[in-house]
Amino acid sequence: MSAPNSSYDPVEVTALKADQVDAMVSAALAAVAAARDLDGLKAVRSAHAGDRSPLALANREIGALPPQARKDAGMRVGRARSAVNQALAARAVELEAEAEARMLVEETVDVTLPWDREPRGARHPLTTLQELVGDVFVAMGWEVAEGPELEAEWLNFDALNLGPDHPARTMQDTFWLEPADGGLVLRTHTSPVQARTMLERTPPIYVVCPGRVFRTDELDATHTPVFNQVEGLVVDRGITMAHLKGTLDHFAEAMFGEGITTRFRPSYFPFTEPSAEVDLVCFVCRGQEPAVATCRTCKGEGWIEWGGCGVVNPRVLTACGVDAETYTGFAFGMGLERTLMFRHGVGDMRDLVEGDVRFTEAFGTEIS
Ligand code: PHE
Repeated sequence: MSAPNSSYDPVEVTALKADQVDAMVSAALAAVAAARDLDGLKAVRSAHAGDRSPLALANREIGALPPQARKDAGMRVGRARSAVNQALAARAVELEAEAEARMLVEETVDVTLPWDREPRGARHPLTTLQELVGDVFVAMGWEVAEGPELEAEWLNFDALNLGPDHPARTMQDTFWLEPADGGLVLRTHTSPVQARTMLERTPPIYVVCPGRVFRTDELDATHTPVFNQVEGLVVDRGITMAHLKGTLDHFAEAMFGEGITTRFRPSYFPFTEPSAEVDLVCFVCRGQEPAVATCRTCKGEGWIEWGGCGVVNPRVLTACGVDAETYTGFAFGMGLERTLMFRHGVGDMRDLVEGDVRFTEAFGTEIS
């Protein structure tokens, strides 16, 4: 053992002076108080109570003091370290309690929240419109008729006076089912339901038939290969074009509001004679000056094309077993998508077929 260095001056060991030790303690206590969470406190612990902390380094200096000075310095540093450790432990308890309280709040499950209010989506507006159209006619005493989407070529064409060589067959771009000579098509219009109804029932006949039809069109803003039509058919004694006009005026007003009536333009369909295109009074400018001149919806016409119609061709009555001497009839057909787009200002046909629930929901959600 070497003798203590008598020339050693303890005053030189600044780290062990009382005011220095007090300063280390105050710095440590301030840091402990400032720690905001357990991670922060961990950093404070290693800085102020770890192996390389000022107090630990000071502790190591004790051995270098002359024996008579060691006790004092030892007690001072010991008290300082335990004060810091106590503060660390007390703050840790506080921060742990805080962390737990925060977790309880953040992870709370409110068991009183309603669990049965999942959004249910919405009915497609075409379905709603289809029912509305049905209601308009049922209110007049008509019936709703249906037919298959996969249809016999004969009913889709031949029975409707569209023979195999009829040029109008090419007017409708048809999806044919294989085999090509199998006589089956995806119906290109709802008019085969006319033929089916006449074959199945005896006059008087008052039916409306909304349904899906198919044509080989590309999907774009105004076309879709799958769309919906609504067909109307009346067969009774003494039916004239005037009844047709009155019916369509009523239908138009029911769809688009008072004053939106129709006009007929001469046209051609093999299954009606005479035939007409049905136009609506433009529901934007109502055909009124001066708005009509600049109306972009009807392009200044005052009228908008809606569908086709006519007096049932006697050849069709005969082909479907109805006595054309006793009975006459009328028929009409409109696009439901077009009707919906007019009614609700839908600008793009694709919105109707893409199935985005955000579009559908705008028309109303049903809560059952
Ligand atoms: N079926 C015709 C079409 O799809 C519309 C129409 C129906 C015309 C009834 C006259 C009578 O174009």
